[in-house]
Amino acid sequence: MSAGRAAEATGIEITGLSVRYRDIVALDDVALSVAPGRVTALIGMNGSGKSTLFKSITGIVRPASGTVAVGGQTPAAARRRGLIGYVPQSEDVDWSFPVSVRDVVMMGRYGRLGPTRRPRAEDHLAVDAALERVELVDLADRQIGRLSGGQRKRAFVARGIAQDAGVLLLDEPFAGVDKRSEATIVRLLRELAADGRTVLVSTHDLHALPSLADEAVLLLRRVVFQGPVGEALRPDNLARAFGLDPGAAS
Ligand SMILES: Nc1ncnc2c1ncn2[C@@H]1O[C@H](COP(=O)(O)OP(=O)(O)OP(=O)(O)O)[C@@H](O)[C@H]1O
Ligand SMILES: [Mg+2]
Repeated sequence: MSAGRAAEATGIEITGLSVRYRDIVALDDVALSVAPGRVTALIGMNGSGKSTLFKSITGIVRPASGTVAVGGQTPAAARRRGLIGYVPQSEDVDWSFPVSVRDVVMMGRYGRLGPTRRPRAEDHLAVDAALERVELVDLADRQIGRLSGGQRKRAFVARGIAQDAGVLLLDEPFAGVDKRSEATIVRLLRELAADGRTVLVSTHDLHALPSLADEAVLLLRRVVFQGPVGEALRPDNLARAFGLDPGAAS
């Protein structure tokens, strides 16, 4: 990983963000600041807006109101500069796409290929190193859809590593993943954060939270809590996030 890119790692700043899908309010006046150098977990029940928040940060969905800044730039500008590595929720990926694991990881390099658009030696080296870090070297030439769920997740994590992105967004990378793959991904995320990157990861695995993250954000269409993991796991805070408190759910 080049020190240059890591040095570019910068936070995410969100103010007054609301997102609607027709008449559904997915996010309502979200204010959030995600700092570099640590792992931040995004927690919330199904439909609480986690994926929509990721898509707002990447610029895939347009806000009804509010602002999102990634390293002080708009999502579109940050994405053009290769600042954002995004591992989408599995349900959002077309797994029949005719590309190999290696091709998927190489996509992380597209933003920095020269005018010929052809991968150079350094790009191949970065891809090989990323595949090694997620333990997928043996499966590199297999079509992406012909991997197990956990292996697919690791392929996308490798894409983010090869990209050397300053901001990594992972939407439920542990869903359907075995303990060993989960431990591999957690270790990588910790390393990437320690390198100065901004890491935001959604998960439903509350038991693994203390080993995964330094900070947690509880989301229920809006941020109902942000702070240290230990505090987030307090019953009163979890109740607010999981809609047990009528005040928060209304
Ligand atoms: N493309 C869409 N069109 C219409 N409504 C949508 C769309 N995507 C999400 N929604 C709605 O927006 C809300 C937030 O959805 P989102 O996918 O962001 O939740 P989530 O927290 O990621 O849930 P999960 O834990 O199930 O992945 C939900 O009410 C959902 O039904
Ligand atoms: Mg989701």
